Amino acid sequence: MKKLNLITAVLFTALALMSCKGKSEKPAAQPAQSAQPEATGMAAAFMKSTEKTKAEEQQYEAALPEQKEPLYDAAARHGFKIGAVISYQSVQKSSYTDMIKADFNSITASNEFKAYSLLSQQLSMKSENKMPVMNYNQADKIAQFAQENGIGIRGHVLVWDAYMPVWFFKEGYKNDSEFVDSATMKKRLEYYIDEVVSHFETKFPGVVYCWDVVNEAVGDGPKEYKDGDARHVRTSRGGTTNYFYDVIGSDYVELAFKYARKAANKVNPKIKLFYNDYSTFYSPKREAIGQLISSINKDEKLCDGLGMQGYVGGYGQQAGCMSSNDINLFKNAINFYGNLGVEVHVTELALRNYDKSQAVKHEAFYENFFKMLGAINNENNYLTSVSIWGLTDNPGLPKTDYSYKMNGPYCGIFHYNLQKKPEFFRILKALE
Ligand code: GLA
Repeated sequence: MKKLNLITAVLFTALALMSCKGKSEKPAAQPAQSAQPEATGMAAAFMKSTEKTKAEEQQYEAALPEQKEPLYDAAARHGFKIGAVISYQSVQKSSYTDMIKADFNSITASNEFKAYSLLSQQLSMKSENKMPVMNYNQADKIAQFAQENGIGIRGHVLVWDAYMPVWFFKEGYKNDSEFVDSATMKKRLEYYIDEVVSHFETKFPGVVYCWDVVNEAVGDGPKEYKDGDARHVRTSRGGTTNYFYDVIGSDYVELAFKYARKAANKVNPKIKLFYNDYSTFYSPKREAIGQLISSINKDEKLCDGLGMQGYVGGYGQQAGCMSSNDINLFKNAINFYGNLGVEVHVTELALRNYDKSQAVKHEAFYENFFKMLGAINNENNYLTSVSIWGLTDNPGLPKTDYSYKMNGPYCGIFHYNLQKKPEFFRILKALE
């Protein structure tokens, strides 16, 4: 029976993980109408490598240190919440939700709060007031879990060009009609942001403690932003047009923040508004993001915080992983953003590792990374939340898989079957 439970847990975890895809430094350009996970049947193939005999289980557990407090208590001592990724699939699995409840006080939905998940084309096409219509079923399940267990949600994300369905920008919400004009698009965006922010706050008061208002609006190279733009606002992504920029204009980022501030003020002024991006600790992107934040907050404080997606290490390869220099860069960047007058969240932490034989180094890297995070608030209170997305190992992933490249198969603080890894205890040690 126990074995059956274990197998079930492994299968469920596999499905959950497939929905928690990682990201690339340059996310795929193709607009995916649905970023729902694809169950490929890989779960079955993984079972052999993760299943342990009872004796092995006991031996493994005996070798782990005793846990004296939940992760969230250890993190709270240093002034930040500790979060985890969740999906519609994983929120229905008690093995996963038990794990969250035990140690985390913040969650972020991998995809379910994004516009491409919430927007309904069918309903929008029939909309009487011509404004977009949303379907909250899956997102509400996640919000309900958070509410029932006193866990906060990072709302992720109101505006993100990647995977955005093009019909949202078109007349009558039809795939093949003309693009609407800028004024119409602004109205749609304002309405969308207002509806979404107010939906969650009204139905689940106080649960969403912050929103990523805009994600990844800073381009990676000169091809992705206009010449002379110090803010590097993204005009395209890997060759695909950024329709927010194209249809609304170069001020779409600050407009989104204005709309979000207005919407939050109506329902709960305590909701914090964030700008979220990747490679935030590398120059020149760091400086461009700094310019962007300063420009958004020029006249009034619209942006409360900066979300640093924490994909750390070589992309898709071991070279560049677990470099102490990255820990320094990360620390400098937290202070850099904090000095601009905003708080900082680490939003999608994945300390990459592609090589199982490097497990001991990975544990140590985890401890050092969290020592750095824990020490930040000794001097100031910049860091207020840290969310781990590379939560579990996924040893069976093929090298070509997006998640393999994004997170690395041995990035986890949990094994594939949700058993705690030494990394988990090294975080506790770092935050002691
Ligand atoms: C970005 C987004 C995340 C996720 C990853 C890809 O980092 O912010 O929500 O979609 O890409 O997995």
